[in-house]
Amino acid sequence: MLRGAVRISGAKNHALAAMCAALLTDEDVILTNVPEISDTETLGDLLRSLGAVVERQPGGRMRLNAAGVNVFEAPTELITENRASFQIMGPLLARHGYAASAPPGGDVIGQRPIDVHLSGFEAMGAIVSRQNERFVAETPRNGRLKGARVFMDYPSVSGTQNVMMAAVAATGHTTIVNAATEPEVQELAHMLNAMGAMISGIGSQMIEVTGVNSLRGATARIMPDRIEAGTFAIAAAMTGGQVEIQDAPVPVLDALINKLRLAGARIEAGEGCLLVAGGNDLRAVSFQALPYPGLATDLHAPMAALLTQASGVSIIHERVFDNRMLYVGELRKMGAEIVSTGSSAIVSGPTRLHGAHVRALDVRAGASVLLAALVAQGPTVIDDVYHLDRGYERLDEKLRALGAGIERA
Ligand code: UD1
Repeated sequence: MLRGAVRISGAKNHALAAMCAALLTDEDVILTNVPEISDTETLGDLLRSLGAVVERQPGGRMRLNAAGVNVFEAPTELITENRASFQIMGPLLARHGYAASAPPGGDVIGQRPIDVHLSGFEAMGAIVSRQNERFVAETPRNGRLKGARVFMDYPSVSGTQNVMMAAVAATGHTTIVNAATEPEVQELAHMLNAMGAMISGIGSQMIEVTGVNSLRGATARIMPDRIEAGTFAIAAAMTGGQVEIQDAPVPVLDALINKLRLAGARIEAGEGCLLVAGGNDLRAVSFQALPYPGLATDLHAPMAALLTQASGVSIIHERVFDNRMLYVGELRKMGAEIVSTGSSAIVSGPTRLHGAHVRALDVRAGASVLLAALVAQGPTVIDDVYHLDRGYERLDEKLRALGAGIERA
């Protein structure tokens, strides 16, 4: 049972995009509330390798300056560490007319193509080629990208961010049709506007960008991480605990709050604060993982852990990634009655879970087994927790402060 208060850190997916946006200007970009997770460290190293200054300052502050950028090609060993790094492509291409990178890494949760990023660049006049293991994008005679109507075949989060960052420094007007509406995309757009960009339609599926000649520095606060907040809300509900989640981005958590209430959790939502109390009699609920404002795919695996404790049969449909089910086998090792077929899972509960030796197979699959371990009888050993460190700041410490018995070996 978890009890007490926890403060949510800055959002991984907002911080990573905001760091890439610093490549669009010669002036200082100051970010606050940047989470100390390995993904922000790796991206910092990548930006430094291009010639940028990336300085971590106390209290979650980060100063970035891209005036010295003179390398336009990402080192493969850093780009393959996470998915967001590919977002250096749009800013580099827009400002310098050339960018090269290997395909990005990140969790193995599906095919994760980058076609919408590349076709967006092409629509704006870039020539994109595959040379050995890298993608090379360049503008004719290293000139500027030209504004265009860009249709996204899928409303990709990082694709929208990449194309938007390219469009702000292109000549003329760009319309991004079928854009992602995720809060992190919206926050990036607001930050770009603070840097002098002209973006409207923020939060809609149609983003309008009028290109500008240059962007200036800005200060931006990284929004709280909705996935971390959601993970703690699920943890409180499934352990029958009572947790005050401080600095929670409440307005963007509607889908999760709705499902948790249907499952029997008691939730009081205040401004920047969620009070979550678990009932002893959780009920099965079915859900689909969808693009925003639907229930986030990053909360699919943690929710599945909760549903092992709910009475009845829950059906989960994953509608974003084609390989989100890695957690299923690990939960089964702990006694969960869960089966997956393609992109769906069926969970029967409640089951008495038992401790086991399991693996964190990706960041959210890792969160799923960790939550299951909180309610399991006996100790659980989780291997490969570096996945958790990619996306959650001090997760073990925060859970320990709420009363969980958890140690890092
Ligand atoms: C981002 C988040 C990740 C989250 C995901 C969905 C970052 C760093 N990561 O990942 O935590 O789980 O959004 O909310 O922000 N697709 C294509 N073509 C493309 C790009 C994507 O078909 O060019 C498809 C993917 O295969 C996938 C779907 O779009 O099925 C969603 O991917 P996308 O929105 O791009 O996710 P990421 O930006 O990689």
